[in-house]
Amino acid sequence: MAKLLSEISTPDYHIFFIENTEAIVNFIATRNYSKTFILVDNNTKKYCLPFLPKIEAYIIEVSEGENHKNLSTCEFIWNEMLHNHADRNSLLVNLGGGVISDMGAFCAALYKRGIDFINVPTTLLAMVDATVGGKTGIDFHRHKNMIGTFSHPNAIFIYPEFLKTLHKNHFRSGLAEMFKHSLLDNSIDAKNIFKLDKENPQLPELIAQSIQTKKKVVDSDPKEKGYRKVLNFGHTIGHALESCFLNTEKPLLHGEAVAWGIIAELWLSSLKLNFPKETMNQLISEIQSAFPEKINLLPHVDEIVNFTRFDKKNASGNVRFVLLKNIGEPVYDIEVAENEIIQSVLLLHEIINS
Ligand SMILES: NC(=O)c1ccc[n+]([C@@H]2O[C@H](COP(=O)([O-])OP(=O)(O)OC[C@H]3O[C@@H](n4cnc5c(N)ncnc54)[C@H](O)[C@@H]3O)[C@@H](O)[C@H]2O)c1
Repeated sequence: MAKLLSEISTPDYHIFFIENTEAIVNFIATRNYSKTFILVDNNTKKYCLPFLPKIEAYIIEVSEGENHKNLSTCEFIWNEMLHNHADRNSLLVNLGGGVISDMGAFCAALYKRGIDFINVPTTLLAMVDATVGGKTGIDFHRHKNMIGTFSHPNAIFIYPEFLKTLHKNHFRSGLAEMFKHSLLDNSIDAKNIFKLDKENPQLPELIAQSIQTKKKVVDSDPKEKGYRKVLNFGHTIGHALESCFLNTEKPLLHGEAVAWGIIAELWLSSLKLNFPKETMNQLISEIQSAFPEKINLLPHVDEIVNFTRFDKKNASGNVRFVLLKNIGEPVYDIEVAENEIIQSVLLLHEIINS
């Protein structure tokens, strides 16, 4: 018997916390889909697909990783759907991390002007962040998430069991987004986030709290006209770092880039909004101990600053940041001058390499 642990309702869909995958099978069975497609990458095919044996579906497999979140992979997915007779009444199941859910949702939103899709996140980052909130998208010419839509899934299923096979660096990457949520909303203690491991019995509850934080913000401003921008804290520098190292020998994971972006943006918060220095130093050392890797940013400073100019939050040629007055007090649309951005990247370089 399928067991539903709990659920979170949003205005457009439900997020189900499940104890076994039968709830997904039942959800599909009770809707009259003409055909079901499951999008996987090579890892989720191996580790996660075996949890869904009862679903009769056509499997679309793509290569894992951010450097495949692009137009040519979408073309492959659409081609697979077309040649296997996906019609308007078909369903796409996105079984994977944020790359699969961002790109699968984007493909579903555009195929025949939109078909149903459900998200089954298999990474921590996708559970707490990427699958929630309706943003879909792909990278374009090295610019992160440059092409996309706002489209909601028909449901999301959270099954924490999937996390058992996730690599520890990808788990840590998800903790970085939970850490960001905890800085936006006082309800979760930021100090304990990076101490979590996959076996922690409180993890499902903390995943649910982190989703609630994001949901609260998204419900208040679904299309990011204003307040939703606060979810981008850490992401202006974070996305610039991620774009800069995309397609290099050592690409950064999204959460790694965001963790370092948070360091730079905490410093900017103290510069521009008097964020308390003592709290800033404590938070930076939390991040440093979770992400001890060294990386030389000095040869890339100009490129990183240049990438911030393409950030979607910018207006009239000015680079705009989300900064914090204090924990739980984000402010959006703060203009930051180029020399201040440069200083923040130089300081980040110093901190990472200290
Ligand atoms: N739409 C949004 O609102 C939003 C928010 C945050 C992040 N994102 C996007 O999410 C993406 C990052 O997501 P991610 O960190 O999940 O990366 P990912 O999808 O690349 O997954 C990380 C790695 O883990 C593997 N994997 C996935 N599940 C596994 C499992 N259960 N066991 C073993 N291996 C598994 C994948 O194959 C991949 O190698 C970025 O593209 C980012 O832009 C989107």
